[in-house]
Amino acid sequence: MIINEHMKLVDKNNFNLAIDNHQVELFTLKNTNGVTCQITNFGSRIISLFVPDKNGLFEDIVLGYDTLQEYLECDEMYFGATIGRYGNRIANGKFTIKGKEYQLSKNNGNHNLHGGNKGFHNVVWNANQTEKETLELTYLSKDGEEGFPGNLKVKVIYTLSKNNTLEIKYEAKTDKSTLVNLTHHSYFNLRGIGKESIENHFVTINASKYTPINKEGIPTGEIISVIQTPFDFTKEKAIGKDIHNSDEQLVFGKGYDHNFVLDATNLKCAARVIEPISGRTLEVFTSQPGIQFYSFNHVEGIHSGKNNTAFITRSAFCLETQHYPDSPNQHHFPSVILNPDEIYTSRTSYKFSVK
Ligand code: GAL
Repeated sequence: MIINEHMKLVDKNNFNLAIDNHQVELFTLKNTNGVTCQITNFGSRIISLFVPDKNGLFEDIVLGYDTLQEYLECDEMYFGATIGRYGNRIANGKFTIKGKEYQLSKNNGNHNLHGGNKGFHNVVWNANQTEKETLELTYLSKDGEEGFPGNLKVKVIYTLSKNNTLEIKYEAKTDKSTLVNLTHHSYFNLRGIGKESIENHFVTINASKYTPINKEGIPTGEIISVIQTPFDFTKEKAIGKDIHNSDEQLVFGKGYDHNFVLDATNLKCAARVIEPISGRTLEVFTSQPGIQFYSFNHVEGIHSGKNNTAFITRSAFCLETQHYPDSPNQHHFPSVILNPDEIYTSRTSYKFSVK
């Protein structure tokens, strides 16, 4: 293991602040190979993630900020956050459960995005580091919070295993029928943050279909084949290969910002990304039916991040495992309703290796 100058952890003191009487902290998970992940209970967010390249050099591969203050003041990107109650967009912020219509805030044009202004990314969770490699976070989202019905108890468990896998387990219970669609929003650059664009990262997504969007990012309702389109990642392909194509879907998304319909949901490999220079490889395994592949398309004017890393368009990618966007209003998409007699569970693993 080579600990190079890039293995500079974010300072815990920069997160030591109380918000509405809830103490924020920065926790460190570390496995026996030296893989290190810093997580804060503000938004249940990953703040840094150091993994080795093919020469054993560790680098931070997720975008973010050095201080809690910046997350509070500047973050419009949901860097590293747990997203809820509903990850992705709900058209017009409106949905109906059991005949009752609910109106959420419109925090993304005319639509609701990622749970609204006070989504799970912007609240303080209770945290308990049960082991060196495990952090459990819980949050009670009250009935009516951001317009959603039901008191929802949520638990997120991060575990960094010996085989360099960061596993995220989710659990939720409600006392009224509600919507739940939880996801994780890290922005990865496997070369190391602050390096070049991700257009030379090679991606495979095990999805033969995707859900096209309208120009506001809302699914049209169709579920169509990726074959012979720029959305075909069924065989390994550089992100940059087709991203500048004039395909209307890429114009609407300003790049990739689409939900892929996974061919398998039983924790099989959903996606793999290889960065050829460092050799760093990421594999994503999930129990979720979809994955939002986002190529960091909306960057204009945002503040620079950790170690003065500039945020540049396409300097990172997200692979957000989740249900399809706007599922509450698209009744042929898998259901996102959680009833009081049910327990929501889902699981996603990000596994790191070198090639
Ligand atoms: C993604 C979403 C993008 C953008 C981003 C946050 O999950 O698909 O459209 O909103 O979050 O900036």
